[in-house]
Amino acid sequence: MMQPPQDLLDAAQAAQRRAYAPYSRFHVGAAVRLPDGNVVAGANVENASYGLACCAERTAVFTAVAQGARSLREVLVVADTDRPVPPCGACRQVLSEFLPPDAPVWLVGRDGAAARTTVGEILPGAFGPGDLGITP
Ligand code: THU
Repeated sequence: MMQPPQDLLDAAQAAQRRAYAPYSRFHVGAAVRLPDGNVVAGANVENASYGLACCAERTAVFTAVAQGARSLREVLVVADTDRPVPPCGACRQVLSEFLPPDAPVWLVGRDGAAARTTVGEILPGAFGPGDLGITP
């Protein structure tokens, strides 16, 4: 099993500790790598109106994009799960907007259980800007 990059893991775990998840008590952290190699992290943020929760992956991606990033190189997500935590469908779509299909997706669970996949593997045939005739 390939080991995830330590800087991504450290940033995602630090963010995981800052998760706002009083309803699910399921704390998730994520980190994305920028083109210059720097890392931006995020955590899940829940709401008393449950459906408004934002996953850690989208928090990380949206934070990076709000800071000016337009393309991201890789992503890592961590939670205290038995198996390496898989991103939800909505997050897969958001990842596909800003990461290429061959970008590494590192999934980490409890006790360091880790897996490496790619954006294209977790969302094959993604709908994208090209389907709208748009080049962002
Ligand atoms: N969650 C994430 O942040 N990322 C995932 O990959 C799975 C789910 C969050 C959303 C919600 O705050 C909590 O975990 C339970 O679904």
